[in-house]
Amino acid sequence: MTSLPNVTINMAMTLDGKVSRPDGRWYGLSSRNDKKRMDEIRSKAEVLILGKNSILNDDPVIHLRYVEDGKDPRPVILLRSGTLPEDKKVFRFSKEPPLIFCLNENYSLVRDNLCSVAEIILIPGSDLSPLEVLKVLSERGYREVLLEGGPSLNDSFFRLDLISRIYITIVPFLIGKTDLPSITGGRKEYPDFDQNRWKLVTSEILENEVFLMYEKQE
Ligand SMILES: NC(=O)c1ccc[n+]([C@@H]2O[C@H](COP(=O)([O-])OP(=O)(O)OC[C@H]3O[C@@H](n4cnc5c(N)ncnc54)[C@H](OP(=O)(O)O)[C@@H]3O)[C@@H](O)[C@H]2O)c1
Repeated sequence: MTSLPNVTINMAMTLDGKVSRPDGRWYGLSSRNDKKRMDEIRSKAEVLILGKNSILNDDPVIHLRYVEDGKDPRPVILLRSGTLPEDKKVFRFSKEPPLIFCLNENYSLVRDNLCSVAEIILIPGSDLSPLEVLKVLSERGYREVLLEGGPSLNDSFFRLDLISRIYITIVPFLIGKTDLPSITGGRKEYPDFDQNRWKLVTSEILENEVFLMYEKQE
């Protein structure tokens, strides 16, 4: 059996650990340096997994703008229910059509709606498990996967212990509102969270932001 791909997370968070504004979007809080760093990290990945709500709320740019001669990673989207509007940037500007994973429940809807702009893969059963997604990506030869949130999707990967590296940018703002998510968020804590320490591998200050990279300690 081939091993699973390496999964890296990249997120920006405020000084009080929030990754989302009160309006449920993320804009205006990261600098040009952070966007450049994001592209450098993206350029090392073959696949870029994006959360459904993040696409709906933020409509992220997915092509590389700050890395010359870099290859855009192929976008991957997980849809457990419903579909997405086909006018989102991820469908309009991807060099390769995004891969969409969905379930029996929404397969017909997604196919009818998005088959001209994406490749659609049905995962059998009722649970769109990140493990099954990674197995398919591995079978297709992908080894380096980048996950860019949001927190719900990150959580489902963390909970199965599928993440090996975390990039975090700390941006110089305080939002202050409770109930805004951090880089990951589920209803329950992770088992033995205080026994599993992440190892700080790099830290860098650029102007007013801090760029950190942690790896899982084996
Ligand atoms: N600061 C940053 O760096 C950063 C980066 C990215 C996003 N964000 C922010 O994150 C927020 C969105 O995050 P979010 O947590 O609400 O949503 P999300 O993680 O973007 O998307 C979650 C949705 O994906 C679908 N999904 C499919 N399979 C899943 C699985 N196995 N596990 C979890 N979800 C799965 C679910 O919708 P269905 O069940 O309907 O399919 C779920 O509701 C936005 O405010 C965005 O601005 C911040």
